[in-house]
Amino acid sequence: MLRYPERTTRLTLSLTTQFMKFDVAIIGSGLAGLSVALHLAETRKVAIISKRSLLDGASERAQGGIAAVLDSGDSYAEHIADTLVAGAGLCDESATRFIIEHGREAIEWLIAQGVPFTRDATAELGFHLTREGGHSQRRIIHAADATGHAVQVALQDKVRTHPNITLLEEHYAIDVITSDKLATKLPPRCLGLYVQDVKTGKVITIAAEHTVMATGGAGKVYLYTTNPDTATGDGIAMAWRAGCRVSNMEFIQFHPTCLYHPYAKSFLITEAVRGEGGVLKLPVEAGAAAGTRFMPLHDERAELAPRDVVARAIDAEMKKRGLDYVDLDISHQPPEFLKEHFPTIYARCLELGIDLTKQPIPVVPAAHYTCGGIVTDLSGRTDLPGLYAVGEATCTGLHGANRLASNSLLECLVLGRAAAQHIEQQPRQKSNSLPDWDESRVTDADEEVIIANNWDELRRFMWNYVGIVRTTKRLERAQHRIRLLKEEIDEYYAHFRITRDLLELRNLVEVASLIVNSALSRRESRGLHFSRDFPDTLPKALPTVLSPARRK
Ligand code: FAD
Ligand code: SIN
Repeated sequence: MLRYPERTTRLTLSLTTQFMKFDVAIIGSGLAGLSVALHLAETRKVAIISKRSLLDGASERAQGGIAAVLDSGDSYAEHIADTLVAGAGLCDESATRFIIEHGREAIEWLIAQGVPFTRDATAELGFHLTREGGHSQRRIIHAADATGHAVQVALQDKVRTHPNITLLEEHYAIDVITSDKLATKLPPRCLGLYVQDVKTGKVITIAAEHTVMATGGAGKVYLYTTNPDTATGDGIAMAWRAGCRVSNMEFIQFHPTCLYHPYAKSFLITEAVRGEGGVLKLPVEAGAAAGTRFMPLHDERAELAPRDVVARAIDAEMKKRGLDYVDLDISHQPPEFLKEHFPTIYARCLELGIDLTKQPIPVVPAAHYTCGGIVTDLSGRTDLPGLYAVGEATCTGLHGANRLASNSLLECLVLGRAAAQHIEQQPRQKSNSLPDWDESRVTDADEEVIIANNWDELRRFMWNYVGIVRTTKRLERAQHRIRLLKEEIDEYYAHFRITRDLLELRNLVEVASLIVNSALSRRESRGLHFSRDFPDTLPKALPTVLSPARRK
């Protein structure tokens, strides 16, 4: 339910409504958003809208690095083959080829922006390459174990000082504005968006020739996640409400190794720890079996199997033995090597009393990456003219049924540039006068407690019913609960003053519904979707494409 005014409403700007106009409005300041912005800013006036601070987002948290073919011992063919194997038959081969073949150029651009990747004088390009599960080669360029931070800080400096970029931090994009909401008949098009200034509560109307969803994933729909608080699937929900198709939402990637500790909120232990020799063992709680290395019993690739295999193996061991966690042990490596390669993880674990040079790290699987999303082509175009999408919010065909580690930052970079180039080639658009945000039915709410309870309920049943191993009965149960929650939230949304919590909950419920409906429609197990009722993989791999019934 959108809160646009009726068509008869006056379309000029009211004195109380703030209005802004840009050539391009980019929603999100992760790597996808900043890449688009920096590639466009020489020729266009750009706004970056970010609901928290610029650095808040998954990109800043990325640890392992960025996958790309950077050594003559490696090849595009091998990187493509590894990606297709992980994707379990559902990768789009031409999208995969396009992204991987533009990898080196993307990394060179980052180096030119001043990203301090870890050096290795013996390597061809002069940078150290690490290894992660599912990769047949060492091809992950990284900045120690804080790659995302190094990248985002370097790009932040460029964005903050660019005269053509306006940065709107603490501004929440509510919904895009489509041409079918105007009194004058125009072909379908995205014309801009409504944004709430989080600090003042005021809603701003932003007109833009092109709008880009770079809003990231939806990990917060699950109780346990490696994702930051920003990952509430807003862009996927907004695009869906605007009439865009969404694909492959059942494929939620669970990272095998999230730190298990009461004071560590969603802290990842990078896959590179296993890449550098870390092994998974049963913990003390397993009694006589404590210390047993269990991955070789589940898969011949052991700890370096793709992460869906490792996450399912950990889940199975935990359920079989009633464990709260398993151990990840890399203490056999020299302390100096560990401190040099994993300084962030070493420091964080030590703060919590765990010395990884001497003892194992307790870990659990947690929701990590949304493989599905808004359907786009290789220029980031969605189904709605004027609306582009880039990054984790999208489904481009690269990840298929399971993303290969470190391919997502690569996708943000390559398609960020491709979207910018496509936007630059478009004819300039005439501006339209846009309807104001309708505040008339809004009253103050005393409903925060109910909203918080609904957040908790949603995330808990998604974890319990729509997690690593699924059944039809549990999915149906989740679907029923989602329906009830949706009704309640639509009711709040129609009557009460909007807050970030309410808007995020509204989007999370929409995304939860897309995940469950996609999962129910897949009558097989493939990649990240494992159903006890349909354990086999069908011979033909088909994506799950959901289409909105109508444009609202
Ligand atoms: P994000 O970086 O999440 O940015 C989304 C932006 O959108 C944020 O600025 C957010 O505030 C903003 N936003 C969202 N909704 C709204 C709204 N309604 N209004 C305004 N702003 C909004 N991938 C790799 O390739 N290599 C790795 O090593 C790696 N490590 C990872 C480690 C962790 C802990 C996590 C969580 C993920 C990791 N990933 C890694 C995945 C990768 O980080 C993400 O897929 C990628 O950063 C997504 O980038 P993005 O720009 O699409 O989204
Ligand atoms: C990690 O460092 O393990 C995360 C890599 C990724 O999600 O691509």
